[in-house]
Amino acid sequence: MSLTLWHNARILPSGDPEQCIERGAILVRGERIEWIGKEEAAPQPGGDIARQDLQGQWITPGLVDCHTHLVFAGNRADEFARRLAGATYEEIARAGGGINSTVRATRGVTEEALLEQSAKRLECLLAEGVTAIEIKSGYGLDFATERKMLRVATQLGARYPVTVYRTFLGAHALPGEFQGRPDAYIDLVCDEMMPRLHEEGLIDAVDAFTENIGFTVARTERVFERAARLGLPVKMHAEQLSNVGGSELAARYGALSTDHLEYLDEAGVRAMKEAGVTAVLLPFAFYFLRGKQLPPIGLLREYGVPIAVATDCNPGTSPTTSILQVLNMACTLFRLTPGEALRGVTHNAARALGKADVHGLLAPGRMADFCVWDVETPAELAYWSGLKPCRKVVRHGSVVHGTVGY
Ligand code: NIG
Ligand code: FE
Repeated sequence: MSLTLWHNARILPSGDPEQCIERGAILVRGERIEWIGKEEAAPQPGGDIARQDLQGQWITPGLVDCHTHLVFAGNRADEFARRLAGATYEEIARAGGGINSTVRATRGVTEEALLEQSAKRLECLLAEGVTAIEIKSGYGLDFATERKMLRVATQLGARYPVTVYRTFLGAHALPGEFQGRPDAYIDLVCDEMMPRLHEEGLIDAVDAFTENIGFTVARTERVFERAARLGLPVKMHAEQLSNVGGSELAARYGALSTDHLEYLDEAGVRAMKEAGVTAVLLPFAFYFLRGKQLPPIGLLREYGVPIAVATDCNPGTSPTTSILQVLNMACTLFRLTPGEALRGVTHNAARALGKADVHGLLAPGRMADFCVWDVETPAELAYWSGLKPCRKVVRHGSVVHGTVGY
């Protein structure tokens, strides 16, 4: 098994800049971390050992993008123009555009074309250091297309050096053919789509868009109830455009995360804290919709709710493929500290996926998934826009991005 000592690095094992190993080293055997610590204390195993001198560059865990809708067809640049001329996101959605316009496009392409379009976006995220990503369905809203999306997400994980977690978001919007019959659509989601897709092994978690233009709390509960019976964890698009009390429902079902949260109130924060729910903030969607109301960051801090940050990559509210840009926006728009933002895409993002034991921390026995950054300070990861400081990405012990030497 190959043995590599990555040394002369400044290491943030959990992504937290307060916990830095200066002049650190990581010994990687095969796919896993064997040892991590101060270089001077590094073990000296016999045999062939490759040495990688990182010349003082920084190492963080591989980044985790814990909320994306990366698999979709087409784009919504036309809608963007309409919104700039004054139409609101809700008006466009109620008139049959919005999510439903991407549903039409996604239903209309082959699985291969969907894979190809989605792969371009994934490649951008991988080049910025993402080694684990969540991908939602929700632009199919019928069995065949939801299945196609989840299959494409699965194939992306097989084809690229990234761990993909697939979320079933059948309850994303009411498809045109169910207009006026939301309960009948929820029947389809619960009685057919979710159990059959789960049986095919295509679902890791279940999400819902709980909102005036999405689904009510009561209908979301039916979805969560079904997920619970199948043993699937849940999460929620909650309090994005208004407060309908979604996060309290999510807390009652022990959700992994509630996401967006601009209109979250103190009762919701308290419920999340008590149930151990992670708050996922999506600053690019806030920016792109020209949001006015900030998520209650102060309350989340006060109650000690873990905060994650993600791209929300999607064609309607967050057409971005840059997690570093999102780090920047988490600070400028939401006033997270650069350290909070970085924890938000490492340790806390892993928590939001229920995978804190697998991602977001560099420790002996874990997979060697990490990034090497050419910056002076970790705050620069949130400070620059457009710079490409990711020198290397190591996944499962191998360099998958950048060069093997310095
Ligand atoms: O995360 N809010 C609902 N879902 C997506 C947007 C989907 C779309 O507009 O295509 C979001 O913002
Ligand atoms: Fe989303």
